[in-house]
Amino acid sequence: MIVPPYKVKLVEPIKLIPYKERKRAIEEAGFNPFLLPSKTVFIDLVSDSGTSAMSIKQLGSMFSGDESFAFQEGFYILRKSVKEHFGFPYVLPMHQGRAIEDILFEILVKKGDIIPSNSLFETTRVIIERNGGEPIDLPGDGGDIDIKRLKDLLKASSDCIPFILMTLTNNTRYGLPVSLDNLRKLSLLLKKYNIPVIFDASRFAENCYFIWKTEKRKKRFRDVVKEVFSFAETVYMSTKKDGLCNTGGLFMTGSRKLYNRVIEVMTVKEGFPSHGGLPDRDIWAIVNGLEETLEEDYIQHRIYQVEYLHKLLKDKKIPVFDPPGGHAVYIIASKILPDHQFPGFALASEIFVKGGIRVGVFGGDLAASDTPEYIRLSIPRRVYTERHLEYVAEVVGSVVEDAEKIPRLNITYLPREMRIFGARFRRAE
Ligand code: F0G
Repeated sequence: MIVPPYKVKLVEPIKLIPYKERKRAIEEAGFNPFLLPSKTVFIDLVSDSGTSAMSIKQLGSMFSGDESFAFQEGFYILRKSVKEHFGFPYVLPMHQGRAIEDILFEILVKKGDIIPSNSLFETTRVIIERNGGEPIDLPGDGGDIDIKRLKDLLKASSDCIPFILMTLTNNTRYGLPVSLDNLRKLSLLLKKYNIPVIFDASRFAENCYFIWKTEKRKKRFRDVVKEVFSFAETVYMSTKKDGLCNTGGLFMTGSRKLYNRVIEVMTVKEGFPSHGGLPDRDIWAIVNGLEETLEEDYIQHRIYQVEYLHKLLKDKKIPVFDPPGGHAVYIIASKILPDHQFPGFALASEIFVKGGIRVGVFGGDLAASDTPEYIRLSIPRRVYTERHLEYVAEVVGSVVEDAEKIPRLNITYLPREMRIFGARFRRAE
């Protein structure tokens, strides 16, 4: 039996507001769960990003934050921790993942470049495009990159490929992990071309858990993590996910030249290089968060929660994506509402109205990915109990049972970029 490896010391009360208020709230939010005020939400599964519960060690260490302008204490403890756990000599903190993407791709991507990946998150894709690059998703088995298609692409266009970007885990491909075998094959292939690999390692611990599990746990979990990081020349991560923090991001590299260039750009755009715009106290929280995410009992329970929700929904014959990934359960909304134009938004709205549960909507026509519109039930880390997840499964089950009653939606507003986060709808007549 897998039991949470923590006990609760501080609680945040949550309330299910009355049915009529939930109905009004989703209408006012244009039937887009991203636009709901969080105070109207009972159980929030819209994202696992920045939503973790911090530990006593993390919160306690924040009082040690050295709020000096330059080269504060946190920078040095961060550098030591990154060297120890990930093997990189150079590290720079920033306020979140996309800030690093913005700076890194400004430096590395030029007009006409092609950026192959196993699949990119929305922000990553848009930032590459804004810098004149063309992101190309080459999804393979699970969260892998398709080596065969990459080989063909390299043969035809290796001159225009400055790096390969691997997302660990592959968020837009159902949170599935990249395998060690895929990383080995990729590394072998790229040696011929002298093209570096960059990791978006925002969910590295979850990715490495699956590798650790298949390796039958012959090694320590943290040694598997170090081995996986040895396949990248440069890594960035949003520490709002596996960093177990409410904010932050880290850039790590073995290249002194790239490190120096990132320092120049970030000093203009984000903040002094030793903190990148983060208060030092958050850097202490990141250091302790990374330490805790590498604990074997933590990561085992984390994945267990995702598997548990997945099983509860599967038992109710809900069309979930199989197998479950590391941070969320994905429901293929188009299978439940096949003749809806926006099945994800329609289903998510109904789940909110029924039980006060907020889920994320991704994929489909509004996203630049070729996946169907799906809802993502992301599980915040260390926040909800198994009982909360049972409630979620009950609500989703009863919504799906009455699926034919779910109203269709028409679009009323569409932003130019990052469309799923800002789109608004109304009920069709
Ligand atoms: N990369 C991946 C794989 C992500 O999932 C995200 C954010 C980012 C980069 C950007 O990091 O938010 O710190 O700027 N994903 C969140 C989500 C928003 O809900 O999946 P950020």
